[in-house]
Amino acid sequence: MSNPIRIVLVDDEDTILDLFRRSLEKASDIQVVGVGRNGREAIQLVNSLRPDVIFLDINMPVLNGLEAAARIASRFPRTAIAILTAEQSREFMQQAIRIGVRDYLDKLMLRPGDIPDAVRRIHQSRPFVSDETPDRGLASVWTFYGPKGNAGTTTQAINASVELSLMGYDVLLVDLDLTQGDVQFYLQTDRQGEEADDHLDILSNLEALSDLEEERIRNGLQSFHPQGDDLPEGAPDEGLKLRVLPCPTGFHEPSEAWVENLGSLIELLSTMFDFIVFDLAPGRIFERSSALSLDYSERIFLVSNQDIASLKAVHLFTRSLSRTSCTGDKVSVLLSPILKHPGFDARKWFADLKTPMGSVTEIPFDPATAHKAASSGWPYTLSDRQSELAVHSINLVHKALNQEPVTARSPGLWSRFHDALKGAIGR
Ligand SMILES: Nc1ncnc2c1ncn2[C@@H]1O[C@H](COP(=O)(O)OP(=O)(O)OP(=O)(O)O)[C@@H](O)[C@H]1O
Ligand SMILES: [Mg+2]
Repeated sequence: MSNPIRIVLVDDEDTILDLFRRSLEKASDIQVVGVGRNGREAIQLVNSLRPDVIFLDINMPVLNGLEAAARIASRFPRTAIAILTAEQSREFMQQAIRIGVRDYLDKLMLRPGDIPDAVRRIHQSRPFVSDETPDRGLASVWTFYGPKGNAGTTTQAINASVELSLMGYDVLLVDLDLTQGDVQFYLQTDRQGEEADDHLDILSNLEALSDLEEERIRNGLQSFHPQGDDLPEGAPDEGLKLRVLPCPTGFHEPSEAWVENLGSLIELLSTMFDFIVFDLAPGRIFERSSALSLDYSERIFLVSNQDIASLKAVHLFTRSLSRTSCTGDKVSVLLSPILKHPGFDARKWFADLKTPMGSVTEIPFDPATAHKAASSGWPYTLSDRQSELAVHSINLVHKALNQEPVTARSPGLWSRFHDALKGAIGR
């Protein structure tokens, strides 16, 4: 027998979930692999289970079914989407068709005996997607963090983001250095930016942004979009797609509501991009906004100067992280040449202390190239690709992409990390 049709059901009402389960019990060619209660869970379930068919209710808490359907359709074209609803609205119906929903089932008319055939019908009607086009999935999240600062963290985050964009990925660089972010300054996105005046200052207004709409958020992002001769050979024809979420314009002390909305924002952005790269504020790991980015991170790049105080901060960070369920291979250490004492061997120092971490690489010392990039608005991965600094960033990105993906999400990492760090400091 061929593989069963794998389906996911998402509805906030038990009666509908029960009806489906009961009517599918005897259908050996259909398997319910997951059940969810809101649109956000729907997206997570599709990401982890990649079902053949998903049934989505429309009116659900957190994220409604049509919004979830739109995001699923754009990232997971192999999953056929069917909408379940008791509301006969022309507007919903038209919206569903525009999204590419395969079927629209009226809950009030649904008879248990019809359900297995409806599943088979929807499965048959799923769109053809060639094997060469993988599902885009949700964004991979990378975080750059310098425990002590002034180590070249922002420079590294920017150049890695540019390199990912040059490879054709849709990349969003998020400046989470809330009080002193430099991304916008280094990339001069404000000066290059189109439609700058009516941009929503997303991170300044996040507390009040309870309804996150994709269009509105997209309009609030800045673009770094060099084209034509400004790009190296092999760059995408349409130019770079790097987008930037700048730090807030004013001083910002994140409240609980702000951090909660940041979580929702990251989840929305994960359905809009291939990569999200965070540049964190130095030394702010106890802040929930920083920790939230770690919760979502597939890779963490620690950028550290080579003085004892900075290395100790890296050691403490990685040791605490390894006491959570977050594995050491998520973490790469980038040793910065900005502060380095002659005769001091940072690698040996880590080895002696048995600091748990993945790879350690050394960033080349090249103030001329780094300063030129920072003051001209042209990252060296674009303008000085032959430089040692650019080669380092290019290799960093390619190596991270070629490595087996490590566990993508570690929800709740912050609290576990917090406890582990407290324990470590107390010792
Ligand atoms: N490899 C390098 N060699 C020499 N100078 C560098 C190098 N990388 C960055 N710099 C310079 O060091 C300075 C700090 O860089 P950057 O802002 O990227 O560091 P940071 O760790 O993000 O700092 P902050 O703590 O302010 O966030 C900049 O002037 C930058 O041009
Ligand atoms: Mg910085």
